[in-house]
Amino acid sequence: MDGMSDRGRSPGPADHRHEDRSGGDVAPERSVAVRPATMPVPPVDAAPTGADLVAAEWLFGDRLSLAVTYAELLIGDGVLRGLIGPREAPRIWERHLLNCVVVAEIIPRNARVIDVGSGAGLPGVVLAVARPDLSVVLLEPLARRAAFLTEVVAALGLDQTTVVRGRAEEWVQGGRDDRAGIATARALAPLDRLVAWCLPLVVEGGSVLALKGESATEEVATHRDVIARLGGGTPAVRRCGVGVIEPPTTVIEIVRERAVRTGAPAGPRRTRGRPRSPA
Ligand SMILES: C[S@@+](CC[C@H](N)C(=O)[O-])C[C@H]1O[C@@H](n2cnc3c(N)ncnc32)[C@H](O)[C@@H]1O
Repeated sequence: MDGMSDRGRSPGPADHRHEDRSGGDVAPERSVAVRPATMPVPPVDAAPTGADLVAAEWLFGDRLSLAVTYAELLIGDGVLRGLIGPREAPRIWERHLLNCVVVAEIIPRNARVIDVGSGAGLPGVVLAVARPDLSVVLLEPLARRAAFLTEVVAALGLDQTTVVRGRAEEWVQGGRDDRAGIATARALAPLDRLVAWCLPLVVEGGSVLALKGESATEEVATHRDVIARLGGGTPAVRRCGVGVIEPPTTVIEIVRERAVRTGAPAGPRRTRGRPRSPA
C-alpha cells in the first residue's frame, strides 16, 4: 500500500497506526532508532502537486504556505522521531492534511476546539493552520508527541493553539471547567469509548466530531444506545470535502444534549480491539 497507487481508497488515520497498534489506547513510549546524521532521509517534496495542489489551494487559501511548512515538519522530524511512518511521507497531503482540513467546513466561526489524542497534530494543527479564527487545544498524553506538538505550534506561530499533555478522562476529573464547543478525534478509539472520553469535554449544545471511515454507519448503529446514555444526541454521519477531495472524509457528529455525571454507570464497557477508523 505504498505510494500514491491506492488513491481512491479511504484515506485516514489508521494508515499510520503502525506506531500505535493498541487500538487507540495510549501506546507505550517506544524507543526510536536514532538515524545516524550521515544517513540520508529519502527526499520527499513537502509541497502538494497535481490534484492535491488544486484541493490544497482551495482549502487552505492564503494559509497554504503554512500548511506546507507543517507538511515539511511531519515528513522530516515527524518521520525521524517515529511519529509518522516513512510510507506516509509521499501521501501526506492526500491521506492526512486534506483528509483533516475538510472538517473545517462543519466547525463554526471562532469556535474553541479540543483535539483529543492529537498525535502529531491531526486534525488539530491542520485546523489551526487553515482557520486562524479557531482557538485550538491539542490534547495528547504521550510526552514525545506532546513535545513535537509544542515545537510545531511554535514553529508555525499558532498563537491561538496550546498543547496540553494529558488524557481526555483527566480533563474533567481534574476539575477543569474550560470545555469547548467542539471536540475532534481521529483514530482515537472505538466510537463508544471515544464518545465517553470526548463528550464531557464539550459544553452542552457543543459537538464531538469523530473522523471515521467506512465503518462509520456501522459504528453508529452499534453504539447508538451507549451514546444516548452518555448524553449524546442522535449521531449524524457527515461527508466533508464532497467535490473537493476523493473520497470525502466521513465524520460522525454527536451533539452533547445533556450532562451526565462523571463516573455514572452510563459509560461503555471497554471495547477490545483497534479503533474503527478510515481505511
Ligand atoms: C492512533 S493515534 C492518532 C493520532 C492522530 N489523531 C492522528 O489521526 O494521526 C491515537 C492518539 O490518541 C492518544 N490517546 C490515547 N488514549 C488517549 C486518551 N485517553 N486521551 C487522549 N489521548 C489519547 C494516543 O497517545 C495517540 O497519540
